[in-house]
Amino acid sequence: MNSFWKLVTSSVGKKLVMGITGTVLFAFVVVHMIGNLQVFLGRDAINHYAEFLQTNAELLWPTRIILAVCVVLHIFTGASLTLENRSKRGVAYDVKKIVGASLVSRTMFISGSIILCFIVYHILHFTTGTTNPEFMALKDAHGRHDVYRIILAGFANPWAAGFYVLGVGLLGFHLSHGVRALCETLGLRLENYAACIDRTAIVVAWILFLGFASVPVAVVLQVVR
Ligand code: HEM
Repeated sequence: MNSFWKLVTSSVGKKLVMGITGTVLFAFVVVHMIGNLQVFLGRDAINHYAEFLQTNAELLWPTRIILAVCVVLHIFTGASLTLENRSKRGVAYDVKKIVGASLVSRTMFISGSIILCFIVYHILHFTTGTTNPEFMALKDAHGRHDVYRIILAGFANPWAAGFYVLGVGLLGFHLSHGVRALCETLGLRLENYAACIDRTAIVVAWILFLGFASVPVAVVLQVVR
């Protein structure tokens, strides 16, 4: 137990925790983006998908708990590594040394903090309906939770749509470095592949940004209505 604790609180251990929790959160983001794109298939498709998720408590609650634990660990470890990197130079996890002191790597903590604010707002907006209680009463012709109309109503306000585009833009920015750093942790970013991995990370970040942003943009442009 003592040696396990020593490992997870060491720079290498924290880097591993960042990598594992980052991978879980990344997987969620990919699945969520694919789920959201069903809005382009129409009301029935996305409401059916949402109903499947909501009615499978044995899938929903373990996923929520795992995600919450990963978010907390990712934030605490990220904060701890940021402070460590600032106070000591030359430790094992020096992001600047590992992948170059790009603007993205230097602002990971700031982009991560704004993404957290975005996620809190997003859950209050679409999941709990705290900001718009009328959303929770929306039902479709089958009596299902009408996620399609919630999305239309949520993005009827162009400011809310703009905030989502900004939030997912920052997420893409954050992930472009996160994916590179993860490959570094796993020892995959070898010299011969480094440029290829860096380009792949940027392409993945753009795909996620465009996939997520397409939904509010399509509602504002009335492509989805
Ligand atoms: C434009 C982009 C997005 C749209 C349109 C969107 C849409 C939605 C909708 C409609 C729900 C509620 C589903 C339901 O009640 O069944 C939801 C839940 C959620 N979304 Fe998003 N989302 C977007 C981006 C994101 C991003 C970027 C993240 C994370 C980084 C995220 C994380 C979550 C979480 C954690 C939940 C709560 C899941 C739960 O516990 O039920 N979303 N989203």
